[in-house]
Amino acid sequence: MTHPVLQKMNKLIDRFGRRIEYLRLSVTDRCDLRCAYCIPEGFKGFEEPEHWLTFDEIERLLGLFASLGLKRLRLTGGEPLLRRNIVGLVERVAAIPGIEDVSVSTNATQLAGMARDLKRAGVTRLNVSLDSLRPEGVEKINGRPALDKILAGLEGARAAGFAPIKVNMVVMRENADEVDDIVAYCMQRGFVLRLIELMPMGDTARKMGYVDLQPVKARLQKRFGLIDTVMSGGGPARYLGTPDGKFNVGFITPISQHFCATCNRVRLTVDGILHLCLGQEDRVDFRAMMRGGASDAEIVETIRSAIDMKPERHEFIEAPQKLVRFMSMTGG
Ligand code: 5AD
Ligand code: SF4
Repeated sequence: MTHPVLQKMNKLIDRFGRRIEYLRLSVTDRCDLRCAYCIPEGFKGFEEPEHWLTFDEIERLLGLFASLGLKRLRLTGGEPLLRRNIVGLVERVAAIPGIEDVSVSTNATQLAGMARDLKRAGVTRLNVSLDSLRPEGVEKINGRPALDKILAGLEGARAAGFAPIKVNMVVMRENADEVDDIVAYCMQRGFVLRLIELMPMGDTARKMGYVDLQPVKARLQKRFGLIDTVMSGGGPARYLGTPDGKFNVGFITPISQHFCATCNRVRLTVDGILHLCLGQEDRVDFRAMMRGGASDAEIVETIRSAIDMKPERHEFIEAPQKLVRFMSMTGG
């Protein structure tokens, strides 16, 4: 048994008593789609490749986080599967002592051909974005005619044995009439569905039609006879499920019912900037530190002080103009 004082020292606990054990790592800010709520069409502000953390830098930094109690890792983007040799990166981060879980959030366009290799390399769970089942809906919302590739990616993930597979749908005025179809699609295939409220990140997302998910939840509950359920590791989603437990749908409601009090995560961008909150500007530049020759001890100290800076909550409603970053930069 570790001494209790040491045990506490080796945990990342912020000023509000939240234990940070989950990090979302954006491995690239590039993407082959242009989701209207994420990257504006024609966006040119991509990060210079020389600024991307190398695999060695990622492994070093995450190793230090893990020594402080980081347990779970999610690879995001941009589109993470576009990072060269992403399978090799998964192998390396999955082998870091203390890391228990490596998941990936993907748009699935490349997934059909990669699902097996990702599984073999150590990916435990997959989240796939699906905002429409209509070709023209995908083209409009996701900016490219990609529906067939996305559906093939989902099938490939299932064939590779990923279970459960979570499907993420950002609900907005443009696709609110498709929620029931996507519920039925996920029910049939055994996918867990998560409906997500649009967050006002960047100009484009602010222009899309926001839909409050509370009434959607009440309607689905009635229509499909769903009951309240709890899913372990479910994060901020509140879940409804069929009484037989075979289908679950989660509601991620950052706007209508924010969940900052239980926030357990931080985000690291491809260029090595740690963001303490999706909706605030508080950040620490670990790339500069590492490339400036900082020692492991110095980095550990900076990780601790960064966690001390984690803001209490986002202010999407009170101060939407505060946030000018796009989701593709911070990594949803
Ligand atoms: N609001 C809500 N979710 C978003 N995502 C990206 N941008 C936004 C936004 N503005 C999430 C979606 C997408 C994933 C990659 O990130 O769930 O599927
Ligand atoms: Fe690409 Fe994901 Fe952003 Fe869509 S939400 S543009 S798939 S990074």
